[in-house]
Amino acid sequence: MAKTTIRPFRPVYPSPAALIVSADLEGRANIVTLAECFNVSIRRPVIIGIAIRTATYSHGLIRSRGEFTLNLPTTALLEEVDGVGSVSGQKCDKFERFALTPLPSQQVGPPMIAECPLNVECRVLSEQEVGDHQLFLAEALAEHVDEECLGPDGKPDPQKLDMLVYACGAYFGAGERLGRHGFTRSR
Ligand SMILES: Cc1cc2nc3c(=O)[nH]c(=O)nc-3n(C[C@H](O)[C@H](O)[C@H](O)COP(=O)(O)O)c2cc1C
Repeated sequence: MAKTTIRPFRPVYPSPAALIVSADLEGRANIVTLAECFNVSIRRPVIIGIAIRTATYSHGLIRSRGEFTLNLPTTALLEEVDGVGSVSGQKCDKFERFALTPLPSQQVGPPMIAECPLNVECRVLSEQEVGDHQLFLAEALAEHVDEECLGPDGKPDPQKLDMLVYACGAYFGAGERLGRHGFTRSR
């Protein structure tokens, strides 16, 4: 098949359209939509990365408190996700504006978002400038999951999470389950 060469732009897909909650030193919380969120160290310890521009209000909040929560939305939250990512918290309270419910965290100051079925409390380990974004690496201190989204094995069931994903500038549902990791080993 013939290929055309294009200018690289966000070439890795899909990514989550995650909602990151930070807070100022007085506890006022803000939400930002980030597609640049990823697992870095997966078990011992669990470390996630987020990449965020210095121009955002959230960047300064995350830097000053060193804490945030990562909240993974459902497709039902599509309008809230797009709206949160289109306006700055410098100008409004995004919990109020988008009718999202703050849920107190157990180990960090910024709250979680009750409407998101999966929430991770994170403490920043490092910040590094990488091109046009700042890369924060953060330890996942606690992960919370809606009970109805768990599978029989007690782990989050992707088919129950109703995942919202982002690719090539657009939002998608996650699609059908094709196979379990390692399913080819028994062949
Ligand atoms: C789907 C989507 C993904 C986004 N991903 C990122 C991202 O990874 N990094 C970033 O700095 N901004 C990203 N943005 C833009 C921020 O969400 C946006 O600038 C936001 O208004 C900043 O809010 P704040 O000023 O309250 O922090 C994204 C926006 C949308 C809608």
